[in-house]
Amino acid sequence: MFFERHRIMFLLLCVLAVLIIFSLVNIIYCSTVLTYSEYEIKSNKVNNDIKFVAISDAEGNTFGKGNSRLAEKIEGANPEFVVILGDMVKSSNGNFAGVKNLCSSLSQKYPVFYIPGNHECLNFGGYDDYLSVLSSEINKTGAKFLINEMTEYTTKNGDRLTIAGLKGYPFYEYDAPEYDNEENHLFQSYLDQEDENHLSLLLCHQPETYMWGLENYKIDLMLCGHTHGGVVRLPFVGGLYAPEQEWFPKYDKGYYSNGKANMIISSGLDGAGMIPRFNNPLEVTVVTIKSTK
Ligand SMILES: [Fe+2]
Repeated sequence: MFFERHRIMFLLLCVLAVLIIFSLVNIIYCSTVLTYSEYEIKSNKVNNDIKFVAISDAEGNTFGKGNSRLAEKIEGANPEFVVILGDMVKSSNGNFAGVKNLCSSLSQKYPVFYIPGNHECLNFGGYDDYLSVLSSEINKTGAKFLINEMTEYTTKNGDRLTIAGLKGYPFYEYDAPEYDNEENHLFQSYLDQEDENHLSLLLCHQPETYMWGLENYKIDLMLCGHTHGGVVRLPFVGGLYAPEQEWFPKYDKGYYSNGKANMIISSGLDGAGMIPRFNNPLEVTVVTIKSTK
């Protein structure tokens, strides 16, 4: 009986030790190793396949000297262009050297489009308008900072795309009576496009906008970040927590569609402050638009 009880205790301690070691290895892996998440979206609006990369939410985290490891990982996907979905800086210090280095090296090879997240929109000490300073510095690298702005891009194979960057939510009536705000004007500008047959992308840091009827604005695909993939991801459950959506978020990572509009959420490149990522690797998101023509 005595030996039996000791044997059970020993087995339980072994199981506990294995769980602790597994968790530590998982946390270290998920905070250091850059991985690809790959998605395919079918479209009859392009004549050729188009591959691009999306990254998000490094929050001041950098990879290698001058962000070289991140740049190499992005280059490894061989994208046509790169979109940066915000929160690449950290609101506690505002240091943008890492993301500026990244934009400098990437924009020598690809068109780069960068939109602000909530961290970029905060004003840091020492700046009258941090976002203006940041966007001006990023634009100097050759990347294009989009703040409630739409731009057109033609791929190497001649497919025309619309790419727009949203700063905030378009439907905050209490901020702007009759929704007379820049964000809503940007949404409306999708409807004003003369050519309805080209692909329209929306870059929007926070995914909650998805619920507001992208298809009504002819937006084919929205790309987001902000959620950090729910930070801790549990098997069969998904992400544990995301800002705004809080516990067990519905939209935390991956591909979503309502049959008309599509959304991809990049789970980003950092944890959430003191809380490390678990079962949720750092992500370079690779999207291929597959032509169905
Ligand atoms: Fe965010």
